[in-house]
Amino acid sequence: MKDVKQEWINVAVEALDKAYVPYSHFPVGACLVTKSGKMYQGINIENASFGLTNCAERTAFFKAVSDGEKEFIHLVIAGHTPEPISPCGACRQVMVEFCAPDMPVTLVGDNGVVKTMTVKELLPYAFTEEDL
Ligand code: THU
Repeated sequence: MKDVKQEWINVAVEALDKAYVPYSHFPVGACLVTKSGKMYQGINIENASFGLTNCAERTAFFKAVSDGEKEFIHLVIAGHTPEPISPCGACRQVMVEFCAPDMPVTLVGDNGVVKTMTVKELLPYAFTEEDL
């Protein structure tokens, strides 16, 4: 589904309150939507050993994939930022693993600022299974 649904944005924004961010105080929320319409909510989960932090996007992917889901149609990422939040490189690589290059990713900031890009636009010339 190319067009984002308000419900998916709401699920990503509602996740912001659940983010576990005692160190950065920078909450991120995600809503990953499966082909069948199921929504997986993700939050960033930090750790006193900072490098173990899991981003919101990867939390959503790992919840979905561990539930047996592998077909996705949309990802929404929300932050409490003036501009739409930009996903980190690690999360872009995980998107490439599980999503079609033309799958839309909607980035949401505060005050309803929204930007939609494709997975390929976020990570062009990606390393994939084809390279192995
Ligand atoms: N973070 C995400 O959850 N997703 C991103 O794509 C960017 C960064 C989190 C990790 C950390 O908890 C906080 O934002 C600050 O880097």
